[in-house]
Amino acid sequence: MDLKKKFLFGYAAAAVAALLAFEYAFWTNGFSYLEKQSEAGYLTQAEMLRDILLADMPEGTASAGKLEEFAEEYGERYNIRITIIDQEGRVLGESDGPGPAMSSHLDREEVRKALYGESNSIIRRSATFGLDYCYCAVPLNAGSFRGVIRTAIPMEELRDMDEEFLRSTILAVAILLLLVLSLVMYFRKYLSAMKAVEQQRREFVSNVTHELKTPLTSIRGFVETLKNGAVEDPDCAGRFLDIIDIETERLGNLIDDTLLLSEIESKKDVRQEPCDVNEVIGEVTELLMPKVKPHVRLIFTPDAGVRPYTCNRDRMKQLLINLVDNGLKATDFGAVTIQCRSTASHLILEVADTGIGMEAEQTERIFERFYRVDKGRSRAQGGTGLGLSIVKHIVELYRGSIQVESRPEEGTTFRVELPYY
Ligand SMILES: Nc1ncnc2c1ncn2[C@@H]1O[C@H](COP(=O)(O)OP(=O)(O)OP(=O)(O)O)[C@@H](O)[C@H]1O
Ligand SMILES: [Mg+2]
Repeated sequence: MDLKKKFLFGYAAAAVAALLAFEYAFWTNGFSYLEKQSEAGYLTQAEMLRDILLADMPEGTASAGKLEEFAEEYGERYNIRITIIDQEGRVLGESDGPGPAMSSHLDREEVRKALYGESNSIIRRSATFGLDYCYCAVPLNAGSFRGVIRTAIPMEELRDMDEEFLRSTILAVAILLLLVLSLVMYFRKYLSAMKAVEQQRREFVSNVTHELKTPLTSIRGFVETLKNGAVEDPDCAGRFLDIIDIETERLGNLIDDTLLLSEIESKKDVRQEPCDVNEVIGEVTELLMPKVKPHVRLIFTPDAGVRPYTCNRDRMKQLLINLVDNGLKATDFGAVTIQCRSTASHLILEVADTGIGMEAEQTERIFERFYRVDKGRSRAQGGTGLGLSIVKHIVELYRGSIQVESRPEEGTTFRVELPYY
């Protein structure tokens, strides 16, 4: 784990611990308040029971049997344990029946206090039942009888509430943590995507600048040479002017391609119309005819079954020009063949040549901006390395796909599939 991650993790753990501590402290206070309130209520209940018992038994009639009866009746009615204890600590009445060790109750703190005349309550573990109880002991003086009436209420429910609260707090914190974690992950993804876009943009700008500088440097060099006297030599002057012409054309191409690429990328393709693809291919072959080398044939046989394809006609033309132009540039002998047909769902375009071909690892990279297999050859032919990048963007614009198959010295076939909508 790197330092940043450690720090983040530690920070999150500290935040969760603080939240848990805060929640727990808050609840513990609330819980002890609840306990105190309950204790006070239970004590009042014990005092009321004592008053009822006194009213029930006129002076001097407190027999052991009557006390037992009272404990049982009211214990059941209020669903609590009632014990009546005499001065010696003997149990005279017990609502739950005699427990396993009904010995002298004088050792019970609350009983002793009550025998001294103090109504009191205490929460402790029952020696008889092994559970936590809230004991409320009230002095009971009925005629000659002196003793204590004691109630015992199990604390389990309250304690259960405490645990329940802790559980739900932990659950809430865990859910919160998950939420925060997913949010953090989402932002990290978003950030790295943004970074990648920014990196791409920077690379593009630096590439474009470099590509612009190269022909400019060459133009300036030849202009300088001409000014220094070469202009007097008609042979030299002619050659230099030709080079300047080519370089100027390349500058123009580069600017056009860059603008086109950014236009396609912004996906503002509003002009869509049913387009006769055979007709477009016809225009492309006518346009590129001057580039066909002496031992090369440019072949296109229109298929009458081709259905019109709804698209921006200029884009379709750019796509085809780039593929056919590449084929013509790569081929010194043989043919460049264009095929077009419609299937039920797709328009299929194929441009195949018998040219220099490429290695497999090169076919993987040719759609990258400015990538050229042979920089020198491409430059000599006025290439910018943006052509196939433009093709790929156009294909993606119409949610299509493009594949390339190539063998060195045998030729290359590009196959474009565009879905009909
Ligand atoms: N049919 C082909 N046969 C052999 N190599 C090809 C073929 N098509 C493309 N390539 C290789 O892929 C590279 C990239 O092609 P791309 O069309 O993007 O650029 P370019 O033709 O060099 O320049 P531009 O098209 O911008 O004028 C080319 O330089 C060439 O090396
Ligand atoms: Mg090209």
